[in-house]
Amino acid sequence: MLININDASVLLKVSLSTLRRWDSDGKLKSIRVQNSHRKYDSKDIVYILKNNMDTQVKLKKFKFIDLFAGVWWFHHAFSNLWGECVSAVEFDKNCRITYELNYYNNNKELFDKWLFFEDIREVDEKRIPNHDILCGGFPCQAFSIAWYQKWFSDERGNLFFDIERIIKEKNPSVIFLENVKNLASHDGWRTFGVILQRLKEQGYFIRYKVLNSYEYGDVPQNRERVYIVGFKDWKAYERFEFPKPQKLTKKMRDILEDDVDLSFYYNDKPLFGKLVWEMKNWDTAYQWRRQYVRENKKNLIPTLTANMGTGGHNVPLILDTKGIRKLTPRECFSAQGYPESFKLPKIANSQLYKQAGNSVSVPVLQRIGENILFALGLVWEKHRHFELVSDATEIPLMA
Ligand SMILES: C[S@@+](CC[C@H](N)C(=O)[O-])C[C@H]1O[C@@H](n2cnc3c(N)ncnc32)[C@H](O)[C@@H]1O
Repeated sequence: MLININDASVLLKVSLSTLRRWDSDGKLKSIRVQNSHRKYDSKDIVYILKNNMDTQVKLKKFKFIDLFAGVWWFHHAFSNLWGECVSAVEFDKNCRITYELNYYNNNKELFDKWLFFEDIREVDEKRIPNHDILCGGFPCQAFSIAWYQKWFSDERGNLFFDIERIIKEKNPSVIFLENVKNLASHDGWRTFGVILQRLKEQGYFIRYKVLNSYEYGDVPQNRERVYIVGFKDWKAYERFEFPKPQKLTKKMRDILEDDVDLSFYYNDKPLFGKLVWEMKNWDTAYQWRRQYVRENKKNLIPTLTANMGTGGHNVPLILDTKGIRKLTPRECFSAQGYPESFKLPKIANSQLYKQAGNSVSVPVLQRIGENILFALGLVWEKHRHFELVSDATEIPLMA
């Protein structure tokens, strides 16, 4: 993985000029592809950190698993934070294609050693390697109002018990789960109460919070999700806090592509006549709701959903210089905070929309992840507003 000079400076806790000096001394050589800015190979940075060469940063590797992996994000967030994904579970074949396309080269073992499992209900928990952090954005349909709020009677709701089965067997130091906001309040909090109780019975101290992506992840999307973090260690639990809200700097237009294929436009389609009267603002996303156009808050994309694209009408609409169009799949991934380097496979757009709608907002996850590592005594100070206590107790991790 390549890391830019600013991130390298934060990671190593040295100035940019020190990095440039190290480059000319040959101590840490940068890589420049076709006159691009300096980039560093993460392996070289790890080497410097491990050997404690002129930096005050401690580094400890950790292992995690990615349940209900979708297309990428838990994997990416924790790999960025020096974690190693030792197993993943995802049964949707299109998600698996996207996941493999983006991860095979970085983590061949996961795929070659058959540690990327399909249906969680059929996974033998004993086959999952030991790990420090269990991550899972478990399926939300069973919890959302749109899916009639059938909880324990709905098979998909019961997938929580597969997570529990793996926890019982593997006993990870940390669990990190994500779900729709409704999970918390569903059935007068009874559903959530059952989940928390069962996690507590496994020995976890739990914190949870509903975070909106535009307030906590600097992405222009209105997306409320509940995040649940559980620690086996009381001290780590006490040290953990959810990230603070941050200013939204990205506007809706920042995530739009310049040259979009005409097939995304409604200009000659029957719906155009209805849309054109309602869609007046350049900085607003709209949604076609069977009989009317819904206008969303300025500069915010409405919550992207998994069923976007399957009926065609739920993909948010915008106005640009060429007319009225729906967001492209790439724009939907950008609204979730995915970087441009994220590769989209050549599969049906409806599948890509579904994957983007199902995903977790990247920066929110990463910020929570950083705080988890801090709580564990693994150092990651980027974006933090307070100094790390240098003697922070380290929680024993897997060898
Ligand atoms: C809410 S999405 C999570 C998305 C993911 N966290 C991401 O960032 O892309 C839930 C995922 O669970 C998968 N899933 C549902 N039931 C499953 C099962 N029985 N076994 C494995 N995966 C399953 C779905 O295909 C979907 O991709």
